[in-house]
Amino acid sequence: MLKDKGCGEIRESDIGSTISLCGWAGRWRDHGGVVFIDLRDRSGVVQVVFSPEVDPEIHEQAHRIRSEYVLYIKGEVRRRPEGTENPSIPTGSVEVVARELRVLNECRPLPFAIEDNIEASEFLRFRHRYLDLRRPSIMRNMILRHRATKSVRDFLDSKGFLEIETPVLTKSTPEGARDYLVPSRLNPGHFYALPQSPQLFKQILMVSGVERYYQIVKCFRDEDLRADRQPEFTQIDLEMSFVTSDDVIAIVEEMMRRLFRDVLDVEVDIPFERLSYEEAMGRFGTDKPDLRFSLELREVSDIVKDSSFRVFLDTLSEGGIVKGINAKGLARYSRKELDDLTRQVQGFGAKGLAWIKVKEGFESPIAKFFPQQTLEALAERLEAEDGDLLLFVADSEDVVNGSMSRLRDELAGRLDLIKEGMFRFLWVVDYPLFEWNDEEERFQAMHHPFTSPADADMELFSNIERSAIHDPQSAISTIKSQAYDIVLNGYEIGGGSIRIHKRDVQNRMFELLGIPPEEAEAKFGFLLDALQYGAPPHGGIALGLDRLVMIMAGAPSIRDVIAFPKTQKAVCLLSNAPSTVEERQLRELGLRLDIGE
Ligand code: AMO
Ligand code: AMP
Repeated sequence: MLKDKGCGEIRESDIGSTISLCGWAGRWRDHGGVVFIDLRDRSGVVQVVFSPEVDPEIHEQAHRIRSEYVLYIKGEVRRRPEGTENPSIPTGSVEVVARELRVLNECRPLPFAIEDNIEASEFLRFRHRYLDLRRPSIMRNMILRHRATKSVRDFLDSKGFLEIETPVLTKSTPEGARDYLVPSRLNPGHFYALPQSPQLFKQILMVSGVERYYQIVKCFRDEDLRADRQPEFTQIDLEMSFVTSDDVIAIVEEMMRRLFRDVLDVEVDIPFERLSYEEAMGRFGTDKPDLRFSLELREVSDIVKDSSFRVFLDTLSEGGIVKGINAKGLARYSRKELDDLTRQVQGFGAKGLAWIKVKEGFESPIAKFFPQQTLEALAERLEAEDGDLLLFVADSEDVVNGSMSRLRDELAGRLDLIKEGMFRFLWVVDYPLFEWNDEEERFQAMHHPFTSPADADMELFSNIERSAIHDPQSAISTIKSQAYDIVLNGYEIGGGSIRIHKRDVQNRMFELLGIPPEEAEAKFGFLLDALQYGAPPHGGIALGLDRLVMIMAGAPSIRDVIAFPKTQKAVCLLSNAPSTVEERQLRELGLRLDIGE
């Protein structure tokens, strides 16, 4: 190798030795005739000195070095002169006096500086992702991600899990998103779907007797993208036989503890807290609450019914609810600040935001509609003290929860309640088996249709009328499942369930969901067949690796922990995918484009 050591690895123990280094030229400075260049490689940076007294020729050469030139340097490690140390970097007490310099390659002027905290647009950064990846913070994320997957693999191996690959050219898996389709040349008019997850194959592997499977696997979902969603993303996918949900949960907890210890040197306490879906929705308005702060929601419908405030009374009479939250200490907010907050909550879907300041009494434009006793009851429910601001939204339960859970996050930011470097895990359990789909006016599977009903609800599941699926008031909504989600700092980082392992139960599930037998056969026939050949009881989970690493890295977007991410429009700016193809390729596939103007 051309290099003896990484630039960032040089320490005081190297003082006096002569070493060879390779890397990229960073910051360039000329101090009183001596040139200093920060030489950077993956391991970090070291200061290289080009002094005319040591070697006039090299000093002359150093003047021709530009940003990101690739250099070979041989020189002597020495202690930096007193007063010139840089304690903020690990190599800050040493420098390398260059005695040999070779330019291994040049570099064009850069579209943006290779530094952290740069202002470059995502467009430029993704177009030149190879440069973006050179920035220390992004490179650190790649290293962290590598160490995370290594920790997970080591842990699962130690627990007897086999990593088995499943097909990428496959059939549709019902995870709720649109499929990416791939036309088959050899079978004109037929398409593969890229897997939304390996769900069906991992269940088949249980039927095969694998008992413990895992895979760190790419999944593909054509859905609307956000900061925590990519069209292709990676799962840590697990499946186990002969287990209950507690067993799956315990394995994941141990895996997380190992992971955070290995990668971040952070000790997380296990077992993690658990909340039922109902409790999570009630207290936080979401099934992925951020528990790093409290700010709980409280339903106050029973109290405000004694007011004469029309907005609240009308909402209640239409079957809606009213919830409140205590914005601690914000009674100092001005009218303008309250109007701003109201507009923001309207952006979250609420019609308005009612407020009451607790300030040696109650101050609010709507106070006149509330008897003193009612105001006091509200203050008590929301544990209000002098100086607090009470905020209320009245609407359907969905809108109240949706808007107030976002208001809760917003307030946490404004009140500066989130401590950096804090990790709060949570399991959400006892999910309903079905959720109402307003558009289609019917219940659908909340997790996926292979999730088992809770044992206690098996009888109701087996006997309920099929028409229940179209009735929003039906008892079908009370059937619980054996699904669980894992949440970290307000992100859903994983979800799984104990599966249905009997064919008749699976048939019943499809029957309730209104999927005709022929359709079930065409879509999932291979799994249904397998279930008839001695399928063991089984269950599993999949964790979103990108989200997990994003949180561990403290990054704002999963794009920061993916080497080659896609934009909001699912475009890879580096390679320019997706792109058009030649007419000949379409013809071979038996396809003709019809995309209008
Ligand atoms: P689910 O659909 O909940 O479950 O996915 C598991 C986890 O994957 C992550 N995730 C994503 N991350 C980035 N971009 C996306 N578009 C995206 N979609 C999902 C989330 C999510 O919690 N087969 C089941 C698992 C099982 O039942 O075992 C499944 O895929 O963190
Ligand atoms: P209005 O009667 O429309 O002037 O509203 C009086 C106050 O109630 C204003 O502060 C509104 O923001 C608030 N408000 C209006 N609709 C709602 C609602 N659905 N939930 C909570 N507050 C509301």
